[in-house]
Amino acid sequence: MKNYSIAIDGPAGSGKSTVAKQIAKKLNLLYIDTGAMYRAVGLYCLKNNIDIDKEEKIAFALKNMNMSIELLEGIQNIYLNGENVTEKIRTQEVGKAASDVAVILAVRQKLVQIQRDLAKGHNVIMDGRDIGTNVLPDASVKIYLNANIEERTKRRCNELKTLGKQYDKEQIKKEIIQRDENDKNRKYNPLKKAEDAFEIDSSCMNIEQVIEAILNVVKQKINDLGV
Ligand code: CDP
Repeated sequence: MKNYSIAIDGPAGSGKSTVAKQIAKKLNLLYIDTGAMYRAVGLYCLKNNIDIDKEEKIAFALKNMNMSIELLEGIQNIYLNGENVTEKIRTQEVGKAASDVAVILAVRQKLVQIQRDLAKGHNVIMDGRDIGTNVLPDASVKIYLNANIEERTKRRCNELKTLGKQYDKEQIKKEIIQRDENDKNRKYNPLKKAEDAFEIDSSCMNIEQVIEAILNVVKQKINDLGV
């Protein structure tokens, strides 16, 4: 049987990683969270005081940055020069730094190579911003997951609440709008729906409904492709 891949793209807070993780479990797929890799580069720059506006400094720093990925009980763990940073990358500050370093071509080239290598020879579900358009242009199934800004803000706040973190709702909303701007307007591989992607607006859907909608598309496509 041929390998197949599911690409899920969409803006911050659209629910990509939550649904991708659960679909990976249901279909026994390898889940690859590409945002975590941009976050790791962002964290590396913050920790080492590398000026995020200076492209050549980041390109140089990449040479000393060794990133590796390991699956522990189905959960993607990410290491920076041997240190497990899986938890440390989950802050708003690192999310913003991730979006800033994601505009740099050298960063994208390095991470896209890692992502394609990880996917080789596996059935995968990968989420991010440029999976259907750039990383896996031949993905068997492409989903563009969206939701309105109010709903995405609410979800991000709930996430922070669950983690026991303080937040200011208006500030979170502002940051998401800023990140959308950054991601959609950057020069290299901006966030956009691939022409052949199936768009789902999850604003009025719960997680189970989104999963069901995606599984329906997957079943249909996989049947058509005969994989
Ligand atoms: O979880 P959230 O939607 O907040 O973000 P993420 O998926 O962890 O990604 C963090 C940032 O990395 C995004 O805002 C993008 O700027 C960047 N990113 C990207 O450029 N390309 C990807 N394939 C994945 C993430």
